[in-house]
Amino acid sequence: MASIKKCLFPAAGYGTRFLPATKAMPKEMLPILTKPLIQYGVEEAVEAGIDTMAIITGRGKRAIEDHFDISYELEHQIKGSSKEHLLDDIRNLIEQCTFTYTRQKEMKGLGDAILKGKVLIGNEPFAVILADDLCHNPKGTGVLSQMIKIYEKYRCSVVAVQEVDGEEISKYGVVSGRNIDDTLIMVDDMVEKPAYEEAPSNLAIIGRYILTPDIFQKIEETEEGKGGEIQITDALRSQAKDGMVIAYKFEGKRFDCGNVDGFVEATNYFYQKRKEEDLLED
Ligand code: UTP
Repeated sequence: MASIKKCLFPAAGYGTRFLPATKAMPKEMLPILTKPLIQYGVEEAVEAGIDTMAIITGRGKRAIEDHFDISYELEHQIKGSSKEHLLDDIRNLIEQCTFTYTRQKEMKGLGDAILKGKVLIGNEPFAVILADDLCHNPKGTGVLSQMIKIYEKYRCSVVAVQEVDGEEISKYGVVSGRNIDDTLIMVDDMVEKPAYEEAPSNLAIIGRYILTPDIFQKIEETEEGKGGEIQITDALRSQAKDGMVIAYKFEGKRFDCGNVDGFVEATNYFYQKRKEEDLLED
């Protein structure tokens, strides 16, 4: 039986960097080619053996709920037409998975959003995907699959990290620790958005986590930081101090689709990939 059965998708942020597109629509519904960001995330979770998706929404929740539901009228309209296959992937996801939802009423940060998921997750380890971080591994399994393998060995929280050079590092949660091997670090400290000069390393946490359920208690004990936000980095830091947290340098590409540059880069990458696949089919 799979060790991780549920994946949490915090999707309640305002997405201000994508205004006005995100005025009435969550940023997780922005498409890369023809697929919304959150569907890429759900596909990555399914590939990792997960079948329950727990989505934290805020405003504009209907678009996400409707996307992961059957649209009888639309299905009826395109049945038997050349476009019917365009719904195959999403229909398969709807059949395979259970989708649950809860709302984050105030945008009090990622830590708070994850805590809101406690009712959907219960007392078991779970995955977290920030769908605006789009990951793809052209050489093998997805990032979440890779992380679950590590969780199964160490049985502690695991965060995905990427080397980020220069001042950019101050936009991320940053870890420091002791190398276990080329890809794994035993975390001894972590800090959210440090000044460039104070960053403890160049290892930035990206939007993939495996969390053990004691994280909920840690978040409850975490004090609000800047702007009244509760940071998941602070709760993880406490887990690392009291127990163990592992940072993992994943294999694959990651696009920060929360900003326009990353979004366009991802669009170009997946467009190129699709063209190459089409050529192979011809
Ligand atoms: P971001 O830091 O990208 O914030 O959140 P944002 O509000 O989505 O976007 P900008 O900065 O205004 O453009 C990282 C992830 O955490 C979720 C977001 O939905 C996103 O997936 N999040 C953040 C919440 O669910 N709740 C929050 O209170 C904050």
